[in-house]
Amino acid sequence: MTAAHLLGRRIFTQRLVFALPLSLAAVRGRGRTAAASLQDSSSPQPGSAAPGAAGSTVLLVYFSRAGENYYYGDRIDLEVGNTKVVAGMIADLTGCDVYEIEAADPYSDDYDAIVARNVEEQNAGARPAIANPLSSIDAYAIIILGSPIWNVRPPMIMSTFAERFDFTGKTVFPLVSYAVSGMGDTEREYQEACRNATFGEGLAIQGEDVTDAPGDVAAAVESWLRTIGLLDGAPAS
Ligand SMILES: Cc1cc2nc3c(=O)[nH]c(=O)nc-3n(C[C@H](O)[C@H](O)[C@H](O)COP(=O)(O)O)c2cc1C
Repeated sequence: MTAAHLLGRRIFTQRLVFALPLSLAAVRGRGRTAAASLQDSSSPQPGSAAPGAAGSTVLLVYFSRAGENYYYGDRIDLEVGNTKVVAGMIADLTGCDVYEIEAADPYSDDYDAIVARNVEEQNAGARPAIANPLSSIDAYAIIILGSPIWNVRPPMIMSTFAERFDFTGKTVFPLVSYAVSGMGDTEREYQEACRNATFGEGLAIQGEDVTDAPGDVAAAVESWLRTIGLLDGAPAS
């Protein structure tokens, strides 16, 4: 069997896991108590500085969902979504501007309900409406696009956001938090959605590590930011 066959099988198995409700008992009360340093935003929240590689401006756009979520085949209640926690680390380290995408029809904090809704949205090629749409990305040369992985790709609302804009002259760095799929189809989806964008190296953080190994996550985030030129100094070896 070729590597492509194996990869295809793995992705198919993962799609099944996240397209069907889990039968395991829900695990309650294990959520984090620490809040991310970000505030909810209806427009980009300016940081103290936004140092891109050549003094360019950086916007971190992210979508994240608190509530019941996947945790090593089980469930966990997250007070703050995994991607939002990682976004907070990036904002703290870079001082970049931050814009949190909010759904006009908010996503339930019930895991099974959200799995079902996401399957419907993916099958329909939906573009869920954004409650707080951004009017322009003109001021930014570098855009970090952050989201969870939902059924092996970013939630459809990320396409709603990206398709609104022309990314000519801008570099997009994908950021995801996931359970088993890594980046999944993220890069391909963003190449379709982000018209005329240039793409840089992405970062995939395992969601469970945000709860269990936040120090490792912070180190990975910092190393990535150095690698892509958003922090001074060479990446730690
Ligand atoms: C509807 C739904 C579908 C998911 N599908 C996948 C998937 O296909 N692959 C994967 O690795 N993780 C999947 N996950 C797990 C999330 O990507 C992971 O828990 C992520 O860290 C959640 O980020 P958030 O808390 O910022 O929303 C899924 C979670 C949900 C709620």
